[in-house]
Amino acid sequence: MRKSYYYSTYCEDSFVVLNQMQQPNPLKAPSFIQSLQFILNPVGFLEKVHQQYPDIFTAKIFGFTGIPVVVVQHPQAIQEILTNDRKKFVVPGHVNKILQPLLGKHSLLMVSGEQHKRQRQLVMPSFHKERMQSYGQLIVNLTEKVMSQLSLNQVFSACSVMQEISLQVILQAVFGLYEGQRYEKLKHLLPLMLGLFRSPLYNSFLFFPFLQKDFGAWSPWGRFVRIRQQIDELLYAEIAERRVQPNSDRIDILSLLMEATDEEGQPMTDKELRDELMTMLVGGFDSTAIAMAWELYWTHHLPEVGEKLRQELDTLGNSKNPMDIFRLPYLSAVCNETLRIYPVGVMANVRFVQEPVELLGYHLEPGTAVIPCIYLTHHRKDLYQKPKQFLPERFLQHQYSPYEFLPFGGGVRRCIGDALAMFEMKLVLATILSHYKLALADHQPVTLQRQIMFVGPGNGIKMVMTGRRTPFKIPQSTSKTTQSFY
Ligand code: HEM
Repeated sequence: MRKSYYYSTYCEDSFVVLNQMQQPNPLKAPSFIQSLQFILNPVGFLEKVHQQYPDIFTAKIFGFTGIPVVVVQHPQAIQEILTNDRKKFVVPGHVNKILQPLLGKHSLLMVSGEQHKRQRQLVMPSFHKERMQSYGQLIVNLTEKVMSQLSLNQVFSACSVMQEISLQVILQAVFGLYEGQRYEKLKHLLPLMLGLFRSPLYNSFLFFPFLQKDFGAWSPWGRFVRIRQQIDELLYAEIAERRVQPNSDRIDILSLLMEATDEEGQPMTDKELRDELMTMLVGGFDSTAIAMAWELYWTHHLPEVGEKLRQELDTLGNSKNPMDIFRLPYLSAVCNETLRIYPVGVMANVRFVQEPVELLGYHLEPGTAVIPCIYLTHHRKDLYQKPKQFLPERFLQHQYSPYEFLPFGGGVRRCIGDALAMFEMKLVLATILSHYKLALADHQPVTLQRQIMFVGPGNGIKMVMTGRRTPFKIPQSTSKTTQSFY
């Protein structure tokens, strides 16, 4: 076993002794209390500790493992970590092992080292910023379709409606499915499966693998296994069909992945394709939906922000091109500020030190677990004046470095869906603000709550549609790539 993996085995005495000597600002509470506080109220826990240790501290938040993890929220230390990923720091795939029943063992999140490098090289070109343009019209049309199903004056949950949009974007742009039986079945089964893991019962199955017992269709784990099997059958059938009938006109991400080959000319196997699709679903579905629900919250909680945005959209006239919308400065600032104030992923992936390093004057030995804390970095008073206030203008006045503003993490593990998520966030918000009049239905202060891997609004953000505006027109594209969706 390699050195770093040796140290990360929490039951090894040497690991514990070593870290007790080196820990920067260790928290004193017992590990189960720290873990419980972090699981139940991640942001409350982090904010409390931040007051005492604003740059770096050591917590035991990994449940029964008791592994100490150095939590870092100083841009200089974050830069050191993210610019030395794969050299001084490594994200071993096994840290995400609890997600294996959902994602499969070939998932990008499950692999490390050379295997991770190969898979990223295969996947990344499909997510390139320029490619996202092809999905513009699709996103606007889907937003229209979902929003038009809402009734006037009826209360709805912004999170649920944004999930509907986010799921359909993934099904169409990523999976390449936009109609027919397979599409309908997956549209029903995928949220059903992910919905199971919103309950504490199913979450505990992930944390305690010995509970993962299939006692038939009516047992909780058996129910999950059967839904997953149905999903797998549909995905493998789709992959098989495309292998027999390849269509070079298709621009969905699955088609691009099927064409991709590694340095040795090898394409992805069916199992790798299936696991990557599930990873994109789990990584992209809730995260983007939560971010879009927050955008609706802020633009209606602070009507002056919504109004300023509408005025900016009006400058584009009646016929709006998705790329012109994407480039609007105030819209970009609103999206950035949304991801700054409540980043959907409060922490990046945990990294393990590979060779002795210094972080902010602390000496860390190989095997030490470190984690860049996105939320606390985004709330530093020395970087962001009045950090608790939603002020999009700060992004117009100042350019933040990737170690000061990092909603998508960074280094070799940076989110692969960042361009798609930003594109979707901008087009969905622009479409809704231009076409519909909405209002918040609940004026209670929002609470933050853990949602599987992410943190989102506790009450789902209750809103109501109060009217419609004159819709703007998206110029019809004549390119074959855009038409192939319809
Ligand atoms: C607003 C939306 C999103 C946010 C805030 C977000 C955030 C993140 C963060 C913080 C990470 C960890 C990065 C690190 O450890 O340095 C990550 C990784 C990842 N994200 Fe996202 N994400 C979003 C949307 C998406 C979408 C749309 C997809 C795919 C369609 C996606 C797929 C992934 C994958 C596959 C990884 C793992 C990358 C790797 O380990 O190499 N995410 N994301």
